[in-house]
Amino acid sequence: MKNIILIGFMGVGKGSVAREIVKQSDMIALDTDDVIESMENRKIKKIFAKEGEAYFRALEHKVALWLQKEVSGTLISTGGGFFKVPNLSEIGTVVYLSAPFEIIYKRIRTHPNAKSKLRKRPLFQDIDKAKKLYEERAPLYKAAADIVIDVSGKELDEIAGEILQKVRQDD
Ligand code: S3P
Repeated sequence: MKNIILIGFMGVGKGSVAREIVKQSDMIALDTDDVIESMENRKIKKIFAKEGEAYFRALEHKVALWLQKEVSGTLISTGGGFFKVPNLSEIGTVVYLSAPFEIIYKRIRTHPNAKSKLRKRPLFQDIDKAKKLYEERAPLYKAAADIVIDVSGKELDEIAGEILQKVRQDD
Protein backbone atom coordinates (compact mmCIF):
# COMPACT_ATOMS: atom_id res chain seq x y z
CA MET A 1 0.00 0.00 0.00
CA LYS A 2 1.14 3.53 -0.87
CA ASN A 3 2.19 6.07 1.74
CA ILE A 4 0.20 9.27 2.25
CA ILE A 5 2.39 12.38 2.53
CA LEU A 6 0.99 15.57 4.06
CA ILE A 7 2.63 18.77 2.83
CA GLY A 8 1.82 22.41 3.57
CA PHE A 9 2.96 25.57 5.28
CA MET A 10 4.19 25.75 8.89
CA GLY A 11 1.29 25.77 11.30
CA VAL A 12 -1.40 24.64 8.85
CA GLY A 13 -2.04 21.60 11.04
CA LYS A 14 -0.20 18.70 9.36
CA GLY A 15 0.52 17.07 12.73
CA SER A 16 -3.05 17.45 14.04
CA VAL A 17 -4.50 16.12 10.79
CA ALA A 18 -2.07 13.18 10.91
CA ARG A 19 -3.22 12.30 14.45
CA GLU A 20 -6.86 12.46 13.35
CA ILE A 21 -6.21 10.19 10.32
CA VAL A 22 -4.58 7.69 12.66
CA LYS A 23 -7.77 7.76 14.76
CA GLN A 24 -9.98 7.18 11.73
CA SER A 25 -7.87 4.44 10.10
CA ASP A 26 -5.44 1.69 10.99
CA MET A 27 -2.48 3.66 9.65
CA ILE A 28 0.68 4.40 11.61
CA ALA A 29 2.09 7.91 11.34
CA LEU A 30 5.57 9.36 11.28
CA ASP A 31 6.77 12.94 10.98
CA THR A 32 9.91 13.92 9.03
CA ASP A 33 10.90 16.58 11.58
CA ASP A 34 10.67 13.98 14.37
CA VAL A 35 12.83 11.56 12.35
CA ILE A 36 15.44 14.30 11.84
CA GLU A 37 15.40 15.27 15.52
CA SER A 38 15.97 11.69 16.56
CA MET A 39 18.70 11.13 13.93
CA GLU A 40 20.51 14.20 15.25
CA ASN A 41 19.45 13.89 18.88
CA ARG A 42 18.69 17.64 18.98
CA LYS A 43 15.85 20.01 18.12
CA ILE A 44 15.25 21.56 14.68
CA LYS A 45 15.82 25.00 16.18
CA LYS A 46 19.29 23.91 17.38
CA ILE A 47 20.13 22.32 14.02
CA PHE A 48 19.23 25.56 12.18
CA ALA A 49 21.13 27.70 14.68
CA LYS A 50 24.31 25.59 14.78
CA GLU A 51 24.53 24.17 11.24
CA GLY A 52 22.32 26.41 9.10
CA GLU A 53 19.41 25.70 6.80
CA ALA A 54 21.40 23.93 4.03
CA TYR A 55 22.49 21.24 6.50
CA PHE A 56 18.86 20.72 7.58
CA ARG A 57 17.73 20.44 3.94
CA ALA A 58 20.39 17.78 3.33
CA LEU A 59 18.94 15.80 6.25
CA GLU A 60 15.48 16.11 4.66
CA HIS A 61 16.92 14.65 1.43
CA LYS A 62 18.41 11.75 3.35
CA VAL A 63 15.09 11.06 5.07
CA ALA A 64 13.26 11.28 1.71
CA LEU A 65 15.51 8.60 0.20
CA TRP A 66 14.98 6.36 3.23
CA LEU A 67 11.19 6.82 3.03
CA GLN A 68 11.13 5.91 -0.65
CA LYS A 69 13.24 2.81 -0.10
CA GLU A 70 12.03 1.47 3.22
CA VAL A 71 8.59 2.81 4.19
CA SER A 72 5.16 1.82 2.88
CA GLY A 73 1.52 2.06 3.95
CA THR A 74 2.41 4.88 6.34
CA LEU A 75 0.97 8.33 6.97
CA ILE A 76 3.86 10.77 6.69
CA SER A 77 3.59 14.35 7.93
CA THR A 78 6.39 16.66 6.85
CA GLY A 79 8.12 19.92 7.72
CA GLY A 80 6.93 22.88 5.63
CA GLY A 81 9.94 22.79 3.27
CA PHE A 82 10.15 19.01 2.82
CA PHE A 83 8.05 19.13 -0.36
CA LYS A 84 11.16 20.32 -2.25
CA VAL A 85 12.91 16.93 -2.07
CA PRO A 86 13.45 15.66 -5.62
CA ASN A 87 11.80 12.26 -5.05
CA LEU A 88 8.61 13.48 -3.29
CA SER A 89 6.20 11.84 -5.75
CA GLU A 90 8.09 8.52 -5.46
CA ILE A 91 7.32 8.38 -1.73
CA GLY A 92 3.54 8.16 -2.02
CA THR A 93 0.32 10.11 -2.61
CA VAL A 94 1.04 13.78 -1.90
CA VAL A 95 -1.73 15.69 -0.09
CA TYR A 96 -1.41 19.48 0.22
CA LEU A 97 -3.20 21.04 3.20
CA SER A 98 -4.05 24.54 2.04
CA ALA A 99 -5.28 27.62 3.92
CA PRO A 100 -4.81 31.39 3.61
CA PHE A 101 -1.80 32.81 5.47
CA GLU A 102 -4.01 34.84 7.83
CA ILE A 103 -5.83 31.69 8.98
CA ILE A 104 -2.56 29.83 9.53
CA TYR A 105 -1.09 32.72 11.51
CA LYS A 106 -4.22 33.03 13.62
CA ARG A 107 -4.15 29.28 14.29
CA ILE A 108 -0.60 29.53 15.65
CA ARG A 109 -1.19 32.76 17.59
CA THR A 110 -4.30 31.53 19.35
CA HIS A 111 -2.90 28.09 20.25
CA PRO A 112 -2.56 27.52 24.02
CA ASN A 113 1.20 26.96 23.46
CA ALA A 114 1.53 29.81 20.94
CA LYS A 115 4.88 30.99 22.30
CA SER A 116 6.62 27.66 21.99
CA LYS A 117 4.91 26.92 18.65
CA LEU A 118 6.48 30.10 17.25
CA ARG A 119 9.79 29.78 19.06
CA LYS A 120 10.54 26.32 17.69
CA ARG A 121 10.10 27.48 14.08
CA PRO A 122 13.20 29.34 12.82
CA LEU A 123 11.45 30.46 9.62
CA PHE A 124 8.46 31.92 11.50
CA GLN A 125 10.37 34.47 13.59
CA ASP A 126 9.51 37.45 11.40
CA ILE A 127 5.90 37.66 10.22
CA ASP A 128 6.66 39.59 7.01
CA LYS A 129 9.34 37.09 6.01
CA ALA A 130 7.00 34.20 6.81
CA LYS A 131 4.26 35.74 4.69
CA LYS A 132 6.68 36.20 1.78
CA LEU A 133 7.78 32.57 2.09
CA TYR A 134 4.11 31.50 2.12
CA GLU A 135 3.46 33.46 -1.07
CA GLU A 136 6.48 31.97 -2.81
CA ARG A 137 5.60 28.46 -1.79
CA ALA A 138 1.80 28.38 -2.22
CA PRO A 139 1.90 27.67 -6.01
CA LEU A 140 4.76 25.19 -5.53
CA TYR A 141 2.83 23.15 -2.94
CA LYS A 142 -0.08 23.00 -5.34
CA ALA A 143 2.12 21.88 -8.22
CA ALA A 144 3.73 19.16 -6.08
CA ALA A 145 0.41 17.73 -4.84
CA ASP A 146 -1.73 14.87 -6.14
CA ILE A 147 -4.60 16.06 -3.94
CA VAL A 148 -5.31 19.56 -2.55
CA ILE A 149 -7.45 19.89 0.57
CA ASP A 150 -8.67 23.32 1.67
CA VAL A 151 -8.64 23.06 5.45
CA SER A 152 -9.91 26.53 6.33
CA GLY A 153 -12.96 26.56 8.57
CA LYS A 154 -13.14 22.74 8.70
CA GLU A 155 -13.03 20.47 11.75
CA LEU A 156 -10.20 17.94 11.99
CA ASP A 157 -12.50 14.93 11.62
CA GLU A 158 -13.95 16.37 8.42
CA ILE A 159 -10.48 17.04 6.96
CA ALA A 160 -9.23 13.54 7.85
CA GLY A 161 -12.36 11.93 6.37
CA GLU A 162 -11.97 13.92 3.15
CA ILE A 163 -8.33 12.89 2.80
CA LEU A 164 -9.01 9.19 3.37
CA GLN A 165 -11.88 9.23 0.90
CA LYS A 166 -9.88 11.05 -1.82
CA VAL A 167 -6.77 8.91 -1.36
CA ARG A 168 -8.84 5.73 -1.70
CA GLN A 169 -10.38 7.08 -4.94
CA ASP A 170 -6.89 7.96 -6.20
CA ASP A 171 -5.40 4.49 -5.49
C1 S3P B 1 10.18 24.45 7.91
C2 S3P B 1 9.10 23.98 8.63
C3 S3P B 1 9.23 23.31 9.93
C4 S3P B 1 10.60 22.65 10.07
C5 S3P B 1 11.67 23.65 9.80
C6 S3P B 1 11.58 24.27 8.40
C7 S3P B 1 9.95 25.12 6.61
O1 S3P B 1 8.20 22.32 10.09
O2 S3P B 1 10.73 21.57 9.19
O3 S3P B 1 11.59 24.65 10.79
O4 S3P B 1 10.90 25.26 5.81
O5 S3P B 1 8.78 25.50 6.34
P1 S3P B 1 6.62 22.67 10.34
O6 S3P B 1 6.00 22.84 8.99
O7 S3P B 1 6.11 21.49 11.07
O8 S3P B 1 6.59 23.92 11.14
